[in-house]
Amino acid sequence: MEKKYNVSDFDIVEYKEADSTNTIAEQIPFGELKDKMVILTWQQTQGRGQASNKWESELGKNIAMTIILRPKALEASKQFAISTVIALGVADLLRRYVDDVTVKWPNDIYVGEKKIAGILIEHCISGPYIQQSLCGIGVNINQQKFLSDSPNPVSLWQLIGREIPLARVLEELLEDINKRYTQLEDMVTLEKDFCQQMYRAEGIHNWEDINGSFRGAIQGIDKYGQLMLKDTTNHVRVYAFKEVRYC
Ligand code: BTN
Repeated sequence: MEKKYNVSDFDIVEYKEADSTNTIAEQIPFGELKDKMVILTWQQTQGRGQASNKWESELGKNIAMTIILRPKALEASKQFAISTVIALGVADLLRRYVDDVTVKWPNDIYVGEKKIAGILIEHCISGPYIQQSLCGIGVNINQQKFLSDSPNPVSLWQLIGREIPLARVLEELLEDINKRYTQLEDMVTLEKDFCQQMYRAEGIHNWEDINGSFRGAIQGIDKYGQLMLKDTTNHVRVYAFKEVRYC
């Protein structure tokens, strides 16, 4: 049985338990999905991460939801803007509680050197436009211990030492995402904010691509959301997701 209610202008469909909110969203007939609809559960049992990884989330402790967005006339070539909206919205939420929040390109959310939130977006394209995006969001809130072998998870509880009511975090998160969603009309600001908040935005760092390791500085993202890195010979290298690795 699902529960339906509205929070911060989003229509929530809350499931008591779900394997994966992204899987549920995918199974809902296309005509029934609406802009700013949210599939939510506090009990996600088979969370999916990027690259067929699992997403660990202790029952009743964290945010696990999928937001359906149906932007008006957003060209498919600009799909990275949706990822920017979600990543910045999650980062805005976390900054209410902690410092040193960054977005590790393309869309992992970090506090310091640890990952606090993950995003899994599936777009549906029709002709030149995005018809809808299913934006899966997992944010570690009250979990005290992580059991999986994911390298560096952290939760708000571990950072600030107290529980935060999930209903309150949900409301704040949807408010923050809503603000960023309206910024789709001003992609220059969205992109500027994204670049300013990037993990390792400053300085020269170690990277690895198919040809081996190198040192380079982040220059920002191009209009497709690809990462631009200037290497030590001043050559700007451009990478799609998975083509380069942070070392
Ligand atoms: C990542 O690997 O960083 C992405 C993790 C995405 C997890 C969220 S939790 C809610 C939604 N449902 C899922 O099965 N995955 C996403």
